[in-house]
Amino acid sequence: MTVSRVSPRPALPPAAYRVVTRTADGPGVATLVLEPAGAALPPFAPGQFAMVYAFGRGDIPLSVSAIEGERLTHTVRAVGAISRALHDVRPGRTLGVRGPFGTGWDLSAAFGRDLLIVAGGIGLAPLRPVVNAALAAPGRYGRLHVLIGARTPGDRLYTAEAESWRAAGARVGVTVDRPDGAWTGDVGVVTGLLDRVAFTPARAAAFVCGPEVMIRATARELVHRGLAPDRIRVSLERTMHCGTGHCGHCQLGPLLLCRDGPVLDWSRARPLLSVPEL
Ligand SMILES: Cc1cc2nc3c(=O)[nH]c(=O)nc-3n(C[C@H](O)[C@H](O)[C@H](O)COP(=O)(O)OP(=O)(O)OC[C@H]3O[C@@H](n4cnc5c(N)ncnc54)[C@H](O)[C@@H]3O)c2cc1C
Ligand code: FES
Repeated sequence: MTVSRVSPRPALPPAAYRVVTRTADGPGVATLVLEPAGAALPPFAPGQFAMVYAFGRGDIPLSVSAIEGERLTHTVRAVGAISRALHDVRPGRTLGVRGPFGTGWDLSAAFGRDLLIVAGGIGLAPLRPVVNAALAAPGRYGRLHVLIGARTPGDRLYTAEAESWRAAGARVGVTVDRPDGAWTGDVGVVTGLLDRVAFTPARAAAFVCGPEVMIRATARELVHRGLAPDRIRVSLERTMHCGTGHCGHCQLGPLLLCRDGPVLDWSRARPLLSVPEL
């Protein structure tokens, strides 16, 4: 089945949000806290994304990396013109925001289970609210494992916050691809950390986000360890334009990822990712 491509409908105008704080989070990465400068958008759920507009440049999809009341937090890595403009924005400036868009992680489906949160690079951003929500509800879930892969020690995100996750009882593992002289931790791909995690497949759920190659390797390993594919939630990326299921830019097989994703069960994502150039 293919998705018919229709002309983009005029998108809703973006809501104005003011940048309250900007925190540098490693080379080329910044975390922005935004508050409504007028009417607030409807509430976002962890895993959903906004189309964030740098005036005069354009808009890009960014996941929410924290949600506090009407405030939205986004962590942006500068890779091109728009993400660079958002990365460089200063407190006090106004951005346009549309949303909320897409599916969320649906943490409630994992009540009572051990949680395996596996993140590569900027993929930790959409998973951060999952970690914080799990820690805010002690007793609702089993053990919380957070496995983080970064290119270098300097590329790790939320380093101070990761310490607070440890202090609150999460088992946090971090590995880097390229260590520096001071690094004494793990080196290698994030799937290597999974070997040291003990979990009962029938009582676990996994949430995975990162580069597609890392998602495939992690999901494959989790299935190999006995986790059911519909207990593995992954967040996928495709180019997005409208965010509302009308332009077809984000098509993946029969799905429009802005509407049917970005978060999918591995049972649904796996067959689509195994077809080259889909
Ligand atoms: C649902 C969803 C949620 C996302 N959440 C976040 C988020 O929370 N934080 C964040 O930083 N990014 C996130 N992204 C990715 C982000 O939208 C892109 O990095 C952005 O669209 C790039 O736009 P640009 O105009 O700056 O660069 P472009 O001009 O589009 O790209 C510049 C160069 O970077 C490459 N590029 C584009 N996207 C990526 C990418 N994702 N990774 C590596 N290289 C890339 C391009 O191939 C090109 O070579 C998300 C994407 C999706 C679909
Ligand atoms: S259909 Fe337009 S971005 Fe998904």
